[in-house]
Amino acid sequence: MSTQQPVNYPVWTHRWTYILATTGAAVGLGNIWKFPYIAGENGGGAFVLMYLFCIMMLGVPIMMAEVLLGRKGRANPVHSMLSQARVAGASKLWAFIGLMGVAAGIMILMYYSVVAGWSLEYVFQSARSSYIGQDAQTIAAGFGDLAQNSGRQLLWHTVFITATATIVGLGVTRGIGNAVNILMPILFALLLLLLWYAFKNGEFQQGLDFMFAADFSKLTGQSVLVAMGHAFFTLSLGMGTVMVYGSYMSADQSISSAVVVVAGLDTLIALIAGMAIFPLVFASGLAPGSGPGLLFETLPIAFSGMWGGAFFGTGFFVLVAIAALSSSISLIEPGIAWLEKLGSSRLMATVGLSVLCWLGGIASIYSNTVFDTLDFLTANIMLPLGGLLIALFVGWKLGYTRVRKEVNTLSSGLFNLWFISLRFIAPAGVLVIFYHSVKTSLGY
Ligand code: PHE
Repeated sequence: MSTQQPVNYPVWTHRWTYILATTGAAVGLGNIWKFPYIAGENGGGAFVLMYLFCIMMLGVPIMMAEVLLGRKGRANPVHSMLSQARVAGASKLWAFIGLMGVAAGIMILMYYSVVAGWSLEYVFQSARSSYIGQDAQTIAAGFGDLAQNSGRQLLWHTVFITATATIVGLGVTRGIGNAVNILMPILFALLLLLLWYAFKNGEFQQGLDFMFAADFSKLTGQSVLVAMGHAFFTLSLGMGTVMVYGSYMSADQSISSAVVVVAGLDTLIALIAGMAIFPLVFASGLAPGSGPGLLFETLPIAFSGMWGGAFFGTGFFVLVAIAALSSSISLIEPGIAWLEKLGSSRLMATVGLSVLCWLGGIASIYSNTVFDTLDFLTANIMLPLGGLLIALFVGWKLGYTRVRKEVNTLSSGLFNLWFISLRFIAPAGVLVIFYHSVKTSLGY
């Protein structure tokens, strides 16, 4: 076996735990909140195709490289990169990937937790039938009220960060591993239930047309950047999450199969979420392009007039909260594993980083600019940049033989194809999209 297991370093108890944990990291607000609304804003079908293209051409190859770095490094993202740079005879500066990743995770959690908090508020409201039978305007205003109500947002944000910290504080196998083993099956079951509900009660065909009928004239340079950024965001790529989870992966698990399963499940779940959401939106005569409020304004309106609305509404927002929780633990884990390596106890590391995220969350609650800037910087800049550097490092620095040893279950044809895409296609893809978006945002 090409990897040495350091003493006392955690390993997932089962290969399925790795898959569930990484799928849990990948499937989150990105799939259920962000994907449907950015697809709505960017015209539907053509955007969805562009996103699928980015997942296949950039996401899967880079994800394999990132998992590999973790499993070979057997440490948090910073120390994995340090050790792999040493192995490759490359500069220590490559550890920047790990540091930027730790920072990106914390920055994402600073607004992610606020949105997760909204979903908790709507679990609460749905379970009490608060919006059932009310008119559309009142319900939409309800979300506006929540957005103005800092105290209420702070309450749910605090609940959510506390839940995240509790799970992560319990450790990798006892906390994260057990949590995903319980949460993920519930998530799958709820999602299928809602798909059935949308099929029964929604304008299902109209929903499908919206998502899959491609009108490429609607695709702008900006929306291509958004599609790429989202491919990284939804796969939790380029920021150390899949690296640190990969470092807990057993040495005999196949990296390529695991990545294909995770990327496949993540994509499937985003598509199913869209297929559950848009039919309900159309059935209530609402517009799909209403932006970030899609989930919290439009859907409650849809549920309010529908059979079983309170029950399925509750189920829906529980689903959102679970998806967010299995991701939030993965956002903070790279930082915690890093601080542990620097000598902190797991408890102290968890408390410290959680407090930091909690404070940042408060800034996001009070300022839309902070919220939007954190989202833009991480999803559209830091993650793609991290991914680009990972592809370049594994493709050009680590060396063919070392990489081949670690990814040993692929046939040589497929392996070479992957390696070529890592060396040329993925970096070129990221660069081209970056270039165009900078150009458009500068107004050329
Ligand atoms: N992939 C998660 C989602 O789609 C977000 C996330 C990004 C989680 C990066 C971990 C790391 O919601």
